[in-house]
Amino acid sequence: MTQEIRYGKLIGASLGPGDPELITRRAWDVLQSGARWVYPVKKAEQASYALAIVERSGLRIPADAVELVFPMTRDADALAKAWARAAQQTVELLATGRDVVFLVEGDASTFATFGHLARVVREQAPSIAVETIPGVSSFTAAAATAGLPLAEEDETLAVIPTAYGIGVIDHMLDEFDTLILLKVKPLLDDVIELLERRGLLATSCFIEKVGSPEERIVRDLASLKGETVNYLSLLLVKNPKRQRGELRRGCRRRQEREAAAHA
Ligand SMILES: C[S@@+](CC[C@H](N)C(=O)[O-])C[C@H]1O[C@@H](n2cnc3c(N)ncnc32)[C@H](O)[C@@H]1O
Repeated sequence: MTQEIRYGKLIGASLGPGDPELITRRAWDVLQSGARWVYPVKKAEQASYALAIVERSGLRIPADAVELVFPMTRDADALAKAWARAAQQTVELLATGRDVVFLVEGDASTFATFGHLARVVREQAPSIAVETIPGVSSFTAAAATAGLPLAEEDETLAVIPTAYGIGVIDHMLDEFDTLILLKVKPLLDDVIELLERRGLLATSCFIEKVGSPEERIVRDLASLKGETVNYLSLLLVKNPKRQRGELRRGCRRRQEREAAAHA
């Protein structure tokens, strides 16, 4: 008779973007629950940004914490192999019956490796339970640090990877009062030129490694031209010139219905 494996739970613990004070109480408790820690690195034995957040919190890193390698490459073969290996390692750890907590920089539901890892793990072993602990994302922390509200009253807000390109960003500036451009590094110069052309340099802000000891806020965006910035950087763009359409409010619809009924 084959014995059914009793898997531990896979937990994605959002740690916030850099300041350990932004680790939620739930994530803090899970880190100290006896769950096995796993953390992402780009290359074997390289520093992990997520692990460094916990290190700064003063918590002791368990000796049996395991790194999972997620390379930054466009080589589809290499990527597929790395993902399969990370998922395999995670399933093996879960098969010991112990919970596994995956350390996530920022928020685990926002452009994070965790969602994909959890999916692949569950494809291999569908009975594995998954919990996602929400957290502070890079851009909510960045907005607070820069003192730029993301959205007020009827404003519209969009978060996009910059790789969509200048044409799309240009178009989106007409539709959104605030744009958050993630993964801005490769196109930073082009975006700065666009913002210059649209007269939006003064209402935009660049933020790098928010919450970490290397945090940098740059409001004079033109000064960044030609610079190679860190991958962990973003742009907050406010477009106060945006032409808004008319809003359809509940009370206005009622007024219209009443007017129609009396017509
Ligand atoms: C793969 S996404 C991860 C997003 C993350 N899960 C979050 O909740 O913010 C990586 C991109 O998020 C942004 N980012 C993540 N952490 C950051 C930080 N500490 N400071 C500034 N930007 C950050 C950068 O644009 C980076 O290229």
